[in-house]
Amino acid sequence: MAKLIEGKIVAKKILENLSDEILFLEKKPCLAVIIAGDDAASKIYVNSKKKKAEELGIKSVVIELPQNCTQQEILEKIYTLNNDDSVNGILVQLPLPPQINAKEVVEKIHPLKDVDGLHPYNLGQIAAGNKPHAYPCTPKGIIRLLEYYDISIAGKHAVIIGRSNLVGRPLSLMLLNENATVTVCHSKTKNLSQITQQADILVSAAGQRNLVKADMVKDGAVVIDVGINRQEDGKLCGDVDFWGAEPRASYITPVPGGVGPMTICSLMQNTFDLYKIQNKI
Ligand code: GUN
Repeated sequence: MAKLIEGKIVAKKILENLSDEILFLEKKPCLAVIIAGDDAASKIYVNSKKKKAEELGIKSVVIELPQNCTQQEILEKIYTLNNDDSVNGILVQLPLPPQINAKEVVEKIHPLKDVDGLHPYNLGQIAAGNKPHAYPCTPKGIIRLLEYYDISIAGKHAVIIGRSNLVGRPLSLMLLNENATVTVCHSKTKNLSQITQQADILVSAAGQRNLVKADMVKDGAVVIDVGINRQEDGKLCGDVDFWGAEPRASYITPVPGGVGPMTICSLMQNTFDLYKIQNKI
């Protein structure tokens, strides 16, 4: 039977400490979020980010743009926020409407305000084995969970399913920097289960329900499920067949309550860290 990795509880502890630190600041940190378009899930995510920020004493500014907004409109908002000293972190919620070039948008955020850690400067720092201004939130949350449960990374074979810029790609570099042996699998990977069966740490970030079945999990593996999918009955579920994998795993994250709360926790921590860098604290 696996030990449950309770992200919800770990995030709460981290955020309690963060809230104590923010309490003593005269000038509070400020997070700006740009949301463009009508994506229902994005609206829910942005609301929960705003709510969490406010609970912690972090100021939040949400800038809403319509589905038919232009590239220029988004870039202008970013220029304004880049030059506004009262704003410490800028997050552009993804996905963006199809007419928008998301890559250019992310590149225009000042790297010191890149609270999502997605700017090529920050990703490049990670790729070079250096410290970025901010680490991408979900990978940072996963590493913190492993640390919290005293799960060693060095020398382990970490297998990641998914190569997105938000999760798989940066996580692969961060685990490599922690001396794991890393394999990244994706939609073109052949013999996926043969590879996952070798994983000491198995991370699924594919967004596909029931992708990771029991027989793909090595005995004693640490299983981290980043997927957020819906079951037929509307309930949330991850990528992993939880009840199939759980008897084999040594540790496993639930969905919900595993990685998700850690992502938002990292975002808050990143806002505070950028505030400290910008204010030379
Ligand atoms: N969309 C889904 N997750 C994220 C995230 O962590 N950051 C941003 N900017 N957009 C997202």
